[in-house]
Amino acid sequence: MNEIEIKFIVEKKLTPFQESSILKLQKECFSDVDRQSIEEDFISQEFGRLFAYQGRKIVGMLGLFKRKIKFGEKEIVFGGTGGVCVAKSMRRKGIATKMLKEGLKLLKKEKCDIACFNVDLKKEAYLLYEKVGFKTMMRKISFENIKGEIKYDAGTMFIPLCSQAVYDYVMQSKNTFHYGKGYW
Ligand SMILES: CC(C)(COP(=O)(O)OP(=O)(O)OC[C@H]1O[C@@H](n2cnc3c(N)ncnc32)[C@H](O)[C@@H]1OP(=O)(O)O)[C@@H](O)C(=O)NCCC(=O)NCCS
Repeated sequence: MNEIEIKFIVEKKLTPFQESSILKLQKECFSDVDRQSIEEDFISQEFGRLFAYQGRKIVGMLGLFKRKIKFGEKEIVFGGTGGVCVAKSMRRKGIATKMLKEGLKLLKKEKCDIACFNVDLKKEAYLLYEKVGFKTMMRKISFENIKGEIKYDAGTMFIPLCSQAVYDYVMQSKNTFHYGKGYW
């Protein structure tokens, strides 16, 4: 396998080639995801993306998110990774793991206290996240969708970044963890 290179690109600086590669990968990897949910629930803009390049070809990507939220008495800098995908022919070679580890380093640099990943528990992708240290929250989380409706979901995974104390507080609380507007 040619060497895989991971590159970070700020969302506003995507090139036309990167934009078309995003669409191509999304079509290849997320054709099973409900369109309505994508349009109504996943409404936040990534602040940047990681691309996995093999030579000039883009074979994987990962979106990075960040927002400030309040949970109980705590102000939290909350990071997220989303839309991780790797071209079918390139899977199980550690590419997603490589992007994820790099993504977590960047979220830490962005001073995120904790980061999360929304897992579709029907998929085995959560194993990938477990391997880098994410743990599943046993409670449901809530978020507000584009219509202003409050929705709930189970199976969100969290990892401590800059603050173990914030992570413990969030994971051990009995209250519903509210994402704010958009499930990213
Ligand atoms: C999920 C996905 C991103 C994994 O990419 P990848 O580059 O193949 O992942 P890695 O090679 O880094 O996998 C690391 C570990 O994660 C786990 N894993 C990854 N894909 C898995 C699968 N399909 N089934 C079971 N375990 C899996 C394994 O433990 C794997 O380690 P191993 O290969 O040594 O057994 C890729 O399969 C994909 O694009 N799927 C479609 C999109 C998707 O479902 N994204 C997740 C959103 S919920």
